[in-house]
Amino acid sequence: MTLSKHASAGLDTPRAWWSELRCPRCHGDLRAEGGLRCDACRTTYPVDRGVPRFVPADNYANGFGYQWNQHRLTQLDSHSGLPISRDRLFRSSRWTAGELRGRRVLECGSGAGRFTEVLCETGAEVTSFDISSAVHANAASNGRFPNLRLVQASIYEMPFPEESFDHLLCFGVIQHTPDVERTFKTMFRYLRPGGRFCVDVYAAMVAYTHPRHLLRPFTRRMPPAALYSLVQKTAPRLLPLSMALHSVPKAGPYLARLVPVANLSYLNLKDRRMLRNWSVLDTFDWLAPRYESPQTRRRLERWTRDLALSEVSIERHRGIYVVRGVK
Ligand SMILES: C[S@@+](CC[C@H](N)C(=O)[O-])C[C@H]1O[C@@H](n2cnc3c(N)ncnc32)[C@H](O)[C@@H]1O
Repeated sequence: MTLSKHASAGLDTPRAWWSELRCPRCHGDLRAEGGLRCDACRTTYPVDRGVPRFVPADNYANGFGYQWNQHRLTQLDSHSGLPISRDRLFRSSRWTAGELRGRRVLECGSGAGRFTEVLCETGAEVTSFDISSAVHANAASNGRFPNLRLVQASIYEMPFPEESFDHLLCFGVIQHTPDVERTFKTMFRYLRPGGRFCVDVYAAMVAYTHPRHLLRPFTRRMPPAALYSLVQKTAPRLLPLSMALHSVPKAGPYLARLVPVANLSYLNLKDRRMLRNWSVLDTFDWLAPRYESPQTRRRLERWTRDLALSEVSIERHRGIYVVRGVK
């Protein structure tokens, strides 16, 4: 594909890397013309503020778009001044910054870009996408990196050539998709044979009682702005109670769990304002998603066997399974 000269300069000026994108429906080439045009299936995909969009603007993840645009900076290491995302990425994946430099890394479901930032800093050639308008939060924060390619797309219909990435990263996403097995298996089509992956997912805990599961049937149907305003009012009030219960010897963490607020005090954030921000963000993140399907270790083992993945390790970190290995 050759990119025709675009009439308007500025944010939607064609970028050279757009020529590597493929039509997610028919895998045809795309041409920059009033957006990105697939001549084979006659579909035109819009470019919104410099970010090509391959999904309807209105989709099941609208709540995430709202959340990440409200909290564009909250979880970015460059904002918190702490290496929270960096440590999680390298601890979970066991990759090193050195091995990523110059490699093609695919990040699925990037949200506001806390991990995009860490990946870009390694000098990798990073391709990140999210189904929601969170991509605009990510673009505002990480658009400064020349090694970032950012699109709004779904894991189910990615606009990339298959087997074209060296590394695949997906954190905090697959439990929030409508068909988790299909999500998991689809992502691997884009990783080259021999490529490394790291995917995490909420762990299903049979006896796990959490008050959010009582609230979610109502809250997941609420308009994001209404739910957010409710959380913004209640979370800062519940947080001191949660912290007081948490400090009870032995039973503290279990008692604190009965209060429906995300308590991130274990992160040792710099000040109370930051702690309140993380708390509002994570409480909303518990309550708003349309889908939440935690997974069992047995299911994850089956899927990795079905895909014939190698060097697979499945580790439990707090309430999350981290799955890593080689395709
Ligand atoms: C809990 S957030 C995690 C974001 C980021 N990975 C992080 O850890 O900060 C889950 C993200 O998955 C995205 N998501 C959900 N379904 C998706 C899909 N089918 N394709 C791409 N992204 C999806 C949501 O829009 C949301 O931003």
